[in-house]
Amino acid sequence: MKKKVLITSALPYINNIPHMGHMVGCHLPADIFARYCRQKGYDVTFVGGSDEHGTPSVIAAGKEDKNIKDFVDNLHEIHKKIYERMNISYDIYSRTSDEEHFDMTQEIFLDIYNSGYVVEKEEELYYSEEDKMFLPDRFLIGECPSCRSEANSDQCESCGKVLSSKELVNPKSILSGSTPVLRKSTHLYLDLAKISSKLDEWLESKRDIFKKNVYSEAKKWIKEGLRARSITRDMSWGVPVPLDGYEGKVFYVWFDAPIGYMTFAKKLGVNWEDREIFHFLGKDNIPFHTVFWPSILIAANRKLPYNVVGYNYLTFEGEKFSKSKSIGVFCTNIHDESLDIDMLRFYLASCLPESKDSDFRWKEFRQVVNSQLIGNVANFFNRTVSMINKYFDGEISLSEMPSYPILSEKKIFSNDIGILFEKGEIRAGIKKILEFSSLGNSFIDSKEPWNLAKTDKKELSKVLYSCLDHARTLAILMSPIVPDKMATFWKDQLLLTDVPSKPGLWNLEENFPLIHKIGRPNPLYKRVDEEELTRIINILS
Ligand code: MF3
Ligand code: ZN
Repeated sequence: MKKKVLITSALPYINNIPHMGHMVGCHLPADIFARYCRQKGYDVTFVGGSDEHGTPSVIAAGKEDKNIKDFVDNLHEIHKKIYERMNISYDIYSRTSDEEHFDMTQEIFLDIYNSGYVVEKEEELYYSEEDKMFLPDRFLIGECPSCRSEANSDQCESCGKVLSSKELVNPKSILSGSTPVLRKSTHLYLDLAKISSKLDEWLESKRDIFKKNVYSEAKKWIKEGLRARSITRDMSWGVPVPLDGYEGKVFYVWFDAPIGYMTFAKKLGVNWEDREIFHFLGKDNIPFHTVFWPSILIAANRKLPYNVVGYNYLTFEGEKFSKSKSIGVFCTNIHDESLDIDMLRFYLASCLPESKDSDFRWKEFRQVVNSQLIGNVANFFNRTVSMINKYFDGEISLSEMPSYPILSEKKIFSNDIGILFEKGEIRAGIKKILEFSSLGNSFIDSKEPWNLAKTDKKELSKVLYSCLDHARTLAILMSPIVPDKMATFWKDQLLLTDVPSKPGLWNLEENFPLIHKIGRPNPLYKRVDEEELTRIINILS
């Protein structure tokens, strides 16, 4: 039976143009993983979409004086095209403002409600007399009680603490800057305390599966003691609450958004319950995906995720990304045709903030691309293809498999890399792929084909055949990271049928054909020199 996986990437708020921090925080690692799983032969569903509700998009639309619906319609399309351009292989990239999603959210809610996990409470919330409205989530700013930075009442962006409005010190309205007053309002709360022990049990079962930072962040929250968290808001933009008395209120965005994963899977005819679920997400999303979302799933009696792969932050040249200060690499000009997206993907993959925060540096971009992608991988391909052309006119012909030890490495490597990927350790997997590539280069160096060409042509053909077999495997292993380049190499130089991304190929059941004519050498890349780097920086800055 084929393993069935459901892979999700955090649904981005539709309030700005994404930057490279968003790419490495979820879309790219989720995509690399999804591509690997398909090659492994799993039945894969990879879902993503826009998180269109909540205060982030309402505030952004307000700043531009735009109608919220027009605003998200426009920005959703922009986001979608950017992920397509980045070659993120979503099976669906949908949106939470769709009708199916309203139905799904209400269905899940009613299940939770009917199982007794929702409580109604009248509480005092901040109301702005000047703005004539309650101030939910990002409408209210103040000081974080934990780290004292400026924070909104949903979450502190500096220390990541999930907040509730009353915890904020010196709260102010983001609209008028006025100090709000407390006013009573009735809302629905998810009874997290009641779920806490089941949640903890689940978390403990994940101790060896989750990465340390993910496990400990969730554990910290549970240890502090879970309190009921409100799941409704005084707003009109969002999913309506299907209960009498809740007219004019909608669900909290962190209630409806993750349910989007279910909605989108369902749109593809995929059943949530019979999949192994992998969530990929950025640092500030970790508490929501390890505490709040699993609590919703427990209360609704739905399947819990298998792994929650949480990332850390990406900085740019040592500083925080900031659109307003123009610090960072943004996707605004990503459609420029002269950009090599695979090159960018490769560098980004090499700096995935997995075990700690990482830093995007243009100097390092050039160095990593030149030494690893070009100097190691592309160089091995080019040496192999060139020598076969030079010594055998591009045609290899053997009657049996040679027996060099290198030929038995591929299964060990592909297996080990697969294990790392499945643990969410994408970066370690990539490191191993590069080791595999280096192995090919060292093999060439040790066999000195240029000498064999003079002394032993038979041996030479065995050596170069082994290089071709190694190159075929390397193209398969590299394909999740640089899919287009590998497909081109496979088709134009190895002259193999199918594509390196073909389902099942990762298992390496076949070897390179013993008798085969390959194509002409054609270096996959030119080294990035100072001038080329400046050109790329100018496009992306
Ligand atoms: N929109 C959130 C963000 O950009 C992520 C939502 S993930 C989901 O930080 F699970 F809610 F979908
Ligand atoms: Zn803080």
